[in-house]
Amino acid sequence: MKLYNLKDHNEQVSFAQAVKQGLGSQQGLFFPLELPEFELTDIDAMLEMDFVSRSSKILSAYIGDEIAPHQLAERVKTAFAFPAPVAKVSEDISCLELFHGPTLAFKDFGGRFMAQMLSYVSGADEQITILTATSGDTGAAVAHAFYGMENVRVVILYPQGKISPLQEKLFCTLGGNIETIAIDGDFDACQALVKQAFDDEELKKAIGLNSANSINISRLLAQICYYFEAVAQLPQEKRNQLVVSVPSGNFGDLTAGLLAKSLGLPIKRFIAATNANDTVPRFLQGGSWTPNATVATLSNAMDVSQPNNWPRVEELFRRKTWRLTDLAYGAVSDETTEASMRELADIGYISEPHAAIAYRLLRDRLQEGEFGLFLGTAHPAKFKESVEAILGQALPLPQALADRAGLPLLSHAMQADFAPLRAFLLKA
Ligand SMILES: Cc1ncc(COP(=O)(O)O)c(C=O)c1O
Repeated sequence: MKLYNLKDHNEQVSFAQAVKQGLGSQQGLFFPLELPEFELTDIDAMLEMDFVSRSSKILSAYIGDEIAPHQLAERVKTAFAFPAPVAKVSEDISCLELFHGPTLAFKDFGGRFMAQMLSYVSGADEQITILTATSGDTGAAVAHAFYGMENVRVVILYPQGKISPLQEKLFCTLGGNIETIAIDGDFDACQALVKQAFDDEELKKAIGLNSANSINISRLLAQICYYFEAVAQLPQEKRNQLVVSVPSGNFGDLTAGLLAKSLGLPIKRFIAATNANDTVPRFLQGGSWTPNATVATLSNAMDVSQPNNWPRVEELFRRKTWRLTDLAYGAVSDETTEASMRELADIGYISEPHAAIAYRLLRDRLQEGEFGLFLGTAHPAKFKESVEAILGQALPLPQALADRAGLPLLSHAMQADFAPLRAFLLKA
């Protein structure tokens, strides 16, 4: 697989390099040089396959001969060890539930596949240290994805006392190759420490520093697979009238959906659904890119006003000669998000703010004869406090979370100072 840097098309790298490097020069995103397409008959046959076999075929179409198909299939099997069920919400709307993995969010698919790919391309005796800062959720997905992996040490920094107790339990109780540090400071202080570490060439070399960045191409490729899985679960008559609504922040999930369509998956239309951070809806409406200051909303994981993946969306539309005017969009206020969560609860489906935004736009925009699917990106229990307050009912914890809640925290405590962090990272 060859990929090029969107900021410098002459910078071309292999899949292995793109996975290791994350970003190209000038912080440019990598994008596939070839855009594979399946024949319609292939798609039909693939929709009959099981999730792991089908996903291996999809990923192989992109990655090509850099990884032997049987080795890729082994890795996919390890990464995608949990289901992505389509749950019926109403007669013409269902939810693709992406929260049945170990950290109860769609990030488990991308994170676990990236972990598999990074260990594959890094060579048997190469030691890697993954250093990342988290404000809560990313840390859990990264920790669980790399847990128990040989030659990989994971160090996660988080702001002490500023993440929820449940979030902390989810990734600070693992031990083994996962080390967590509670920093006496805020999230920005944690990020600044990570940045300092990446600026330290000597340290970088000594410990094989890598960021497990969310912009990594392997994460995006993994996410394509669950769009196919969704269509595979639908009855034949619904497959050709499918509208998919994607709760969007950094627009990775939407990019993956569009890449699935580009492979030939029959998706009639996508809806890009945002909260009040509506740079993309305003751009699609008026044609000018004018990000406002980010505002805090109920769907906080989508509080992004300069979405990282948007250049990939534009590039795909350009390469496929699709029209951006065919991309549906909308922005939903917190008030309407709450009303939508209540509406869903009334029809028997408990959801959380991110998915509720996608649901709302879908039910507003769906036309006669169409079938709608929205992405359930996180388990409602991950947003327990707000969901319980909005719905006025208690939410039981899923077993995996309940089990972790009783385990002791294994975190180290540290001042927001680079010297002790550097010493910590260098210790064998
Ligand atoms: C629960 C949830 N929903 C939706 C999104 C938005 O996904 P994307 O950033 O790929 O647009 C995120 C992003 O972190 C998320 O955590």
